[in-house]
Amino acid sequence: MLIDNHGRNINYLRLSVTDNCNLRCQYCMPEEGVNFAHKKDLLTWEEMYTLAKAFVEMGINKIRITGGEPFVRKGLIEFLEKINQLTNLEEISITTNATLIGPHIAQLKKLGITTINVSFDSLDKARFNHITRRDQFDVVMANIYQMMEEGFDVKLNCVVMDGKNTDDIISFIKFVQKHPISVRFLEEMPFNGQSNEKPVLKWDYISIIEHIKSEFGDLERLPAPPTSTSLNYKVKNAKGSFGVIPSYSRTFCGTCNRVRVSAKGEMQTCLYATETIDLKSLLREYTNISELKFSIYTALQARHKDGFEAEKGSVTKKSMTLIGG
Ligand code: GTP
Ligand code: 5AD
Ligand code: SF4
Repeated sequence: MLIDNHGRNINYLRLSVTDNCNLRCQYCMPEEGVNFAHKKDLLTWEEMYTLAKAFVEMGINKIRITGGEPFVRKGLIEFLEKINQLTNLEEISITTNATLIGPHIAQLKKLGITTINVSFDSLDKARFNHITRRDQFDVVMANIYQMMEEGFDVKLNCVVMDGKNTDDIISFIKFVQKHPISVRFLEEMPFNGQSNEKPVLKWDYISIIEHIKSEFGDLERLPAPPTSTSLNYKVKNAKGSFGVIPSYSRTFCGTCNRVRVSAKGEMQTCLYATETIDLKSLLREYTNISELKFSIYTALQARHKDGFEAEKGSVTKKSMTLIGG
């Protein structure tokens, strides 16, 4: 077990395999993109494997692959095949925009990797294309349907943006009434790579729930593990469910079980952290894995009890594509 300095069991690694993406979601980065890493500054697949193995040996049992968009980097499937063999790794899941996943669905199923979170902010084609600044709606929709047909555990992530996709809240609930998947509404966080202003959150957890109740009446609260970031519900007669992730109005710090590594090998002990630990240099300087593990362990003994409160107020120009979500 990997226990931090506040007694929290860290068992979940979010590993970003690239900072690049083929979309340009407005809440994530500016139109022109961000300062993407040079290839030499990215961890290689071999380095990522060494890291994953070290983390799993230390007590991590779940790895979520994130980006950028993970499927833009060549070699992802081979990497998944390799880490899939790590003893004691119980779950591999992926967060993706689902534009490129189509040709890989069968192979993922074969590997048993069927928990897929899809960043998908609108069921309306024009709105989706406006938010993502690209024309990929049809392919994403087709891939979502294909994963549903294959029995994948699909969660749609919808970042609620005032004046941009709030009409989608009701449409998404109707969608999961018909389909056995889940949609989560995410509060927008200040990680769009350009903002200079402190965010004013018009659509927070409470207003999203009230909005849904006004249309669908009473909601059934669903159980969730204490480490879950989403509060989950069901409306009457629904095949699927919905959740709200109050990532900006509330804090999950008390039960946080996560550690993050960016595509450049920067370890972050909190989503909101402003300091990172340079694992890439450690990987390249030392062949000794114990040194690496020691650094990881030491960093986890210096975690903020409540990183969210400590950093929330800071005005940030960070982009989610560089953090990995
Ligand atoms: P699962 O529980 O495995 O489904 O993972 P997840 O829902 O955390 O993964 P996903 O990649 O879909 O992330 C969804 C959103 O959860 C992120 O964009 C954030 O809004 C939020 N989130 C995830 N981790 C944290 C965290 O440590 N702190 C905060 N404040 N928000 C988080
Ligand atoms: N606020 C909230 N969620 C965001 N995501 C990306 N940027 C933001 C933001 N600024 C979400 C994406 C993805 C998840 C990992 O993070 O929807 O699904
Ligand atoms: Fe790409 Fe995801 Fe960022 Fe959208 S939110 S631009 S899909 S990394």
